[in-house]
Amino acid sequence: MKTTFNRRDFVKGAAVLSASPLLVNPAAVFSAGPETIKIGVIGCGGRGQGALNDCLRAAQHLNLNTEIVALGDFFMGRAADAARKHNVPRERCFDGADAYKKVIASDANVVLLVTPPNFRPLHFDAAIKAGKHVFMEKPVAVDPPGARMIMETGKLAAQKKLAVAAGTQRRHQAAYRQTAWAVANGAIGRLTSGKVWWCGGALWFNRRQEGESDASYMVRNWVSFTEMSGDHIVEQHVHNIDVANWYIGRHPEAALGFGGRARRQTGNQFDFFSIDFDYGQDVHIHSMCRQVNGCYNRVSEFFVGTEGSTWGSGPGREGYKKEIQLPEFEEHGGPYVQEHINMLDSIVKGQPLNETQNVAESTMAGIMGRISAYSGQMVRWRELMDENAGSPWYNLVLTPTAEDFEKGTVTAPPDDVVAVPGKA
Ligand SMILES: NC(=O)c1ccc[n+]([C@@H]2O[C@H](COP(=O)([O-])OP(=O)(O)OC[C@H]3O[C@@H](n4cnc5c(N)ncnc54)[C@H](O)[C@@H]3O)[C@@H](O)[C@H]2O)c1
Repeated sequence: MKTTFNRRDFVKGAAVLSASPLLVNPAAVFSAGPETIKIGVIGCGGRGQGALNDCLRAAQHLNLNTEIVALGDFFMGRAADAARKHNVPRERCFDGADAYKKVIASDANVVLLVTPPNFRPLHFDAAIKAGKHVFMEKPVAVDPPGARMIMETGKLAAQKKLAVAAGTQRRHQAAYRQTAWAVANGAIGRLTSGKVWWCGGALWFNRRQEGESDASYMVRNWVSFTEMSGDHIVEQHVHNIDVANWYIGRHPEAALGFGGRARRQTGNQFDFFSIDFDYGQDVHIHSMCRQVNGCYNRVSEFFVGTEGSTWGSGPGREGYKKEIQLPEFEEHGGPYVQEHINMLDSIVKGQPLNETQNVAESTMAGIMGRISAYSGQMVRWRELMDENAGSPWYNLVLTPTAEDFEKGTVTAPPDDVVAVPGKA
């Protein structure tokens, strides 16, 4: 969704707030942080290779030396592809479901976790326990125990003074940071409601190859299996839910919604969801997401307050009703690079960024919406976070798990058998 927000109109005389210094003193860098950013990648697919490039560009921007020390992927072909592009020797490539252990055992000081999200809690735990700084893609789990495990590991990262950046890149995007600042500083009064959308087209799917293992089939088809992706309300729409959490300043208390499946042929995900997220204090957000071709597309957010409204990435044509001077925020090379700049900068300064709790809460909110749609029930945050609430969803573990992939005990759920609300 394109907005008509023109930042120049709203920045008159504002102070410049920068999250990432353009001028870094190399002496200070090396006294506080590692001399060379040694990068390991776990998951060398589309985003994994993208995140690697972003990290390299960020390091270059900060005048830091880099070395790619390990590349891991379920399939050797993917790791080797990344290695070829960056002249990394083949012996630094690892494959299989245990490739993450080899990447983490290398001398990498920064590890990029970019597999499908069902593996994230296990990989994040291993990386932090091994003392690595982490960039991890969203979402960070597919079920409530996974999201809680991420939160716990995030606390350990803080204790160990390790940086954790998440792939919720809007939090590093100047226009979003400016809007967040505007909302926090009263540009729309008290935020009372909003809408968040990820309505887009279908992603890919792959037919099972003759003799293909269930594990390989699920990895190649991960955007169609809830056990791998969390479903697209978690996998894609987490971005927009994250913006709502950020601007409102808290996670939702409950979710009530529905969804369905109309066009998919593999896996077990829904094609569309519509969820009412109740944030308490009479604040509601309507979330909509869809992966169907030939329909109206919108990926955006809109918020209404007692004194105005705003899109997630800035005000509409009329601007804010209230006069407000907005600060400018740094964004070098786009938000995908800026998030790595912010992470590396925090490492070299010895003040590690830790985005774990935010991304874990946004992931959990998406999971809460999905459980409501699949089951047809109202789902409360407390049921997913507090064992004493006595909810069966507290211990809902989607199988096959990451551990099953490592043990080689993967049984794929049947294709095209989906949750039936009222029964699931
Ligand atoms: N922030 C963003 O805008 C953004 C954009 C795209 C994707 N993503 C996220 O990035 C992650 C990866 O998505 P993608 O588009 O790169 O998918 P992809 O399918 O292109 O790549 C995933 C890679 O992970 C590998 N893999 C699977 N299981 C593995 C395991 N156990 N160990 C090692 N490697 C394994 C696959 O073989 C594949 O190469 C997802 O969580 C996705 O949601 C984020």
